[in-house]
Amino acid sequence: MKRAKQNEDSKKSDCPCIACVVYCSLWVHPGESVFQYIKKDVELKIPIGFPQPLYDLKKNKITPAGFILGRKLFYDPILSKDYFTSCASCHQRFAAFAHIDHALSHGMLGQFGKRNVPALQNLIWKDAYMADGGINHLDLQPLAPLTSPIEMGESVAGVLEKLRNDSLYPGMFNKAFGSDEINSERLLKSLSQFLALMISSNSPYDKYLEGKMEFSSQELNGLKLFRSKCETCHKEPLFTDNSYRNIGLKPDTSLKDSGRAAITGVNEDKMKFKVPSLRNVEVSYPYMHDGRFRNLKEVMNHYADGKFFTPDFDKSIEKAVGLSEDDKSDLIAFLKTLTDKTFLMDRRFADPAMK
Ligand code: HEC
Ligand code: HEC
Repeated sequence: MKRAKQNEDSKKSDCPCIACVVYCSLWVHPGESVFQYIKKDVELKIPIGFPQPLYDLKKNKITPAGFILGRKLFYDPILSKDYFTSCASCHQRFAAFAHIDHALSHGMLGQFGKRNVPALQNLIWKDAYMADGGINHLDLQPLAPLTSPIEMGESVAGVLEKLRNDSLYPGMFNKAFGSDEINSERLLKSLSQFLALMISSNSPYDKYLEGKMEFSSQELNGLKLFRSKCETCHKEPLFTDNSYRNIGLKPDTSLKDSGRAAITGVNEDKMKFKVPSLRNVEVSYPYMHDGRFRNLKEVMNHYADGKFFTPDFDKSIEKAVGLSEDDKSDLIAFLKTLTDKTFLMDRRFADPAMK
């Protein structure tokens, strides 16, 4: 049914690629004809109930060629010093672009970073990135992993040099930006075009809000609990209010991560971390800035037990202290309604090498 509909859509769009009619159902066109991606495929649709994006897309208009270039770059290990680590090595599609099974990120030459890899979604609604908000523009974000010696270990000049000497990239930059010139602005803008479209807004929760799906009584109770105990920080519909909060986690004496304070230098910001979205949280384990909790039950136990380790924790977490076992299960059942299979299986974000 879905496949038939997509084929129908692709016919409607008059895509010049004949094979497109067959391959559109997979979102992937054969070989070089990936450039036949049509405008409709990369159109930004603001989901119902979402606010206006904070990222200014007028300054970086998403085009099929720009998006395709961003996608190739995201999956290409050529961006790293060892030609082995791509953005996608750490940001795995099936985990909503988080990295399951690793508490701490795992970069070049087997080195470990200091933070857990977060899910990538709804990025154009964020005012800052990283668990401490250390980066305030999406276009600048990739510079951190690219140049970090434990992540991709490259220099911007080194990456640009490799791309210029590649057989495919000059042509791709030409299609995306109108000339063969490969510079850092174009590199970062195309990556942002790819990242900007990673929008998750099609979960059962969204369908429930639109009246297209029923919730079980357990999920309904979970939603009720969520709205009374968690909503202050995990604000719907993005499930974050973009603030930094201290939720009383035990400081890790080996990582010595002081959170937001490392950026602001303000003592009160110690152990404050950016409130993460909870969309797709079921598949983006482990949890917290350092991946200390392996599953949602452990997270619920943290809130319910009320053993908060820093005296200046945010008092709104106290509302969740004393959650019963049933409450915890209901909350987890609700959190699982935020798993968006349409997003997780969206072929536009798949590795372009996958046929
Ligand atoms: C070695 C693993 C690794 C690689 C490679 C990597 N990342 Fe990340 N990424 C992370 C970690 C860890 C964080 C969170 C860091 C923090 O909170 O301090 C992150 C954060 C991000 C964020 C911010 C998410 C948010 O909501 O705050 C974006 C966007 C992102 N990465 C994109 C990319 C892109 C694009 C590339 C390739 C150029 C890339 N990453 C390569 C591990 C990696
Ligand atoms: C005071 C604000 C606040 C309240 C209230 C709050 N949280 Fe959080 N939550 C946070 C912050 C901040 C983090 C990230 C901490 C970190 O990275 O170390 C977080 C992390 C999480 C995570 C892990 C997400 C991830 O990807 O790592 C889950 C799940 C979660 N919260 C669920 C809940 C639930 C369920 C409730 C209500 C019972 C709740 N939270 C109440 C601020 C809050």
